[in-house]
Amino acid sequence: MSYPYQIQNREAYEEAYQKSIEHPEKFWGEIAEHFKWEKKWDKVLDWNFSEPKVEWFKGGKLNITENCLDRWAETYPDRNAILWEPNDPAEKIRRFTYKELLDEVCLFSHVLNRNGVKKGDRVCIYMPMVPELAIAVLACARVGAIHSVVFGGFSAQSIADRINDASCNIVITSDGAYRGNKTIPLKSIIDEALLSCDSVQKTIVLTRTGEAVSMLSGRDVWWDDEMKSVRDEGLSHYKPEVMDAEDMLFILYTSGSTGKPKGVVHTCAGYMVWTNYTFVNVFQYKPDQIHFCTADIGWITGHSYILYGPLSAGATSLMFEGIPTWPDAGRFWEIVEKHKVNILYTAPTAIRSLMGFGTEPIIGKDLSSIQVLGSVGEPINAEAWHWYDEHIGKKQAPIVDTWWQTETGGIMISNLAGVTDAKPVFATKPLPGIQPVLVDENGKVIEGNNVSGNLCIKFPWPGMLRTTFGDHERCRLTYFSTYQNLYFTGDGCMRDNDGDYRITGRVDDVLNVSGHRIGTAEVENAINMHTGVVESAVVGYPHDIKGQGIYAFVILSSVHNDEAHMKKDIMQTVSKLIGPIAKPDKIQIVSGLPKTRSGKIMRRILRKVAEGELSNMGDTTTLLDPTVVESIIMGRIP
Ligand code: WT7
Repeated sequence: MSYPYQIQNREAYEEAYQKSIEHPEKFWGEIAEHFKWEKKWDKVLDWNFSEPKVEWFKGGKLNITENCLDRWAETYPDRNAILWEPNDPAEKIRRFTYKELLDEVCLFSHVLNRNGVKKGDRVCIYMPMVPELAIAVLACARVGAIHSVVFGGFSAQSIADRINDASCNIVITSDGAYRGNKTIPLKSIIDEALLSCDSVQKTIVLTRTGEAVSMLSGRDVWWDDEMKSVRDEGLSHYKPEVMDAEDMLFILYTSGSTGKPKGVVHTCAGYMVWTNYTFVNVFQYKPDQIHFCTADIGWITGHSYILYGPLSAGATSLMFEGIPTWPDAGRFWEIVEKHKVNILYTAPTAIRSLMGFGTEPIIGKDLSSIQVLGSVGEPINAEAWHWYDEHIGKKQAPIVDTWWQTETGGIMISNLAGVTDAKPVFATKPLPGIQPVLVDENGKVIEGNNVSGNLCIKFPWPGMLRTTFGDHERCRLTYFSTYQNLYFTGDGCMRDNDGDYRITGRVDDVLNVSGHRIGTAEVENAINMHTGVVESAVVGYPHDIKGQGIYAFVILSSVHNDEAHMKKDIMQTVSKLIGPIAKPDKIQIVSGLPKTRSGKIMRRILRKVAEGELSNMGDTTTLLDPTVVESIIMGRIP
């Protein structure tokens, strides 16, 4: 088995890139030939960015699970598709060959079918990182239902918002989840969420922790009972639903600069081709290698590089239930040694946190299987890059710094492991098919090298988002209206003298905390829900491990003699409304916020305070009351 479209050397990269720009339809049409179609497409690409409308492989018919499972189960039935490493190293690992995974997915497809799930229905999945999560996701795709996976760290309120936005009619969850030495009561969080979700008729509950849960008759059924009964009936193969290339495959919610998360929509064929192509090329995957992406399937990285990218390429994907620091900070390295991991793909925040433990947890661990290292989610700082290179890759493994977004479906700018040059802290070059442009504030394209600007993409690629669920206008406004005929990423970027790209971070009000996107407006809304709060403003500040920390300035309705207690209550409120990941690191109680005469908060000033850059506050003359700045500086939390 090999990948005819795998780029082998630098010249081939340049050739492929050139061709993808000059003849995009021919380029992608040829790559798409290497997949399994029920019917080939009529037209490779139809698009305009003004609506926007983007259609890839229009008229094509397929099911992505035939590409991820059936074709490998036929040719390589005994190859491992998924290796699973539990939270607790004392628990047994689990393995699924392509044949076994196909069988499980087929059985669960029958379960979905029996529980009334039809093509086009939305299914919310709120599960721990266990193989059944992968099975549930793939079974949705097989029956043609649209999955909406919600990360296990989100609160009941956040889940309810997402379920209601997509009118999901079924939820798949588990009793609880293990996370290090803690458990999270997933089912009871779902029970709370469902109090405000009328659309949900069924929940399917997997047993993971064995903790007590409530099971409502007529609504809640057990995963194991359902699987047993389809087995007992002798059901096995499930014929995949024939999907249109542009039918929705999934929704994944992500934060933006407004208060409400958006349901980013990806469709079947383009997303499949894009995740496969980027997986095979960026990581330079070779058959039988073990690929370990440490992300959670609740985020896009898990969708694209634990499931769809690797599985569509017939790869062996390692799935890890736990966290990098439990039972100790050697957990990743122990996993690498145990499973002989060849490709390790993780986030700078994890690298920085492990760096903090020194090299002791690495000593004695055999990391010689590692051939490729990857980084994703935020800009990687030079110190973390070099530590990763030296201590994990032993200077033998190329590092790919992969820039992309939930909306882009897969990797957009990255070096190709061992094929194109790495450059510390640079994502380097666009993948074939990707045409980045830098623009200034006025939307003027900035040509040439050694320049900085806002990063946009000027031509469609197969994996791009198609809409935001239920609100196409919002998609247009967010991504396609800031600059005419361009997709706007929200990131700032510089292009150096070699034409290499370095992403410098968000230019909108979106924070990146431990590689997770959090909108400042979302956190402010949550803080403002607390009864004692009048108003708040949230900004990010540099954080050694998380990349960015959350700093909240809060005005209370009355003077409180126990501010510490009040702050705890505010934290609890944010945790309840969004989830623990959005809890502010610092809360400063203030008597006023720096506002212009028109009532707009001058965040620039708050950012400086949070960053501790107090010497020059810039122009404050337009402020309604310039004296608030002094008192805010006085009360700054170091
Ligand atoms: C934002 C997207 C990509 C999947 C995980 C996060 C930042 C992502 C990099 C990188 C610098 C990066 C950007 C982007 N980002 N990768 N290699 N270098 N910044 O997906 O939650 O949609 O966040 O993460 O700011 O816009 P996401």
